[in-house]
Amino acid sequence: MTLFDPSAIYQRAECLFSQEQISAVIEKIAAEINLQFVDKNPIVISILNGGLILTGQLLTQLNFPLQVDYLHASRYQNKIRGESLHWKTYPQLDLNSRHILLVDDILDEGYTLVAVKEYCLGQQAASVQTLVLADKKHQRKAQENLKADFTGLEIPDRFVFGYGLDYQGYWRNAPGIFALHKEDEKS
Ligand code: IMP
Ligand code: MG
Repeated sequence: MTLFDPSAIYQRAECLFSQEQISAVIEKIAAEINLQFVDKNPIVISILNGGLILTGQLLTQLNFPLQVDYLHASRYQNKIRGESLHWKTYPQLDLNSRHILLVDDILDEGYTLVAVKEYCLGQQAASVQTLVLADKKHQRKAQENLKADFTGLEIPDRFVFGYGLDYQGYWRNAPGIFALHKEDEKS
């Protein structure tokens, strides 16, 4: 067994999308949201921790009245594989009759977004739309043809980190989306 070395992990990872590419994508999505939500007085809910960076970079580009909230639900518990969703914090604002925009890092199998969306609808939200920075391309989605309402990037079926996504708790701060080196996927 080799020692976990976050610096080495970063050095040998493959950059799939640079910060510049991602910023351009976020700008494009912000423009769409500005059109679609302008008169909806929505609540933008960041799904922590992964949605942190995307939410921050999106929010200052939105030019209409909105409120911000967050929830903390994680599926992976710092592991690559895992099934159930662990709720740590629910949104604090009353969602009743409100239009909701959920912001998360990635649509992998989609269990997280489906469960969170159901929760919001259960709170009588008027509508719930979803935005993810990345959609992982594979055939294991929780529902057939599951898609977010807004998707930044399509990424290959590899473990990625950066821009909010972590590897064993590290590198959410990496300036881009990086795929783990094949050797590191085994650790
Ligand atoms: P889902 O429920 O399968 O869509 O899982 C979504 C959550 O799993 C994301 O919000 C991430 O926190 C985590 N996740 C899925 N794939 C990756 C990955 O490649 N890198 C880091 N986290 C991931
Ligand atoms: Mg997450």
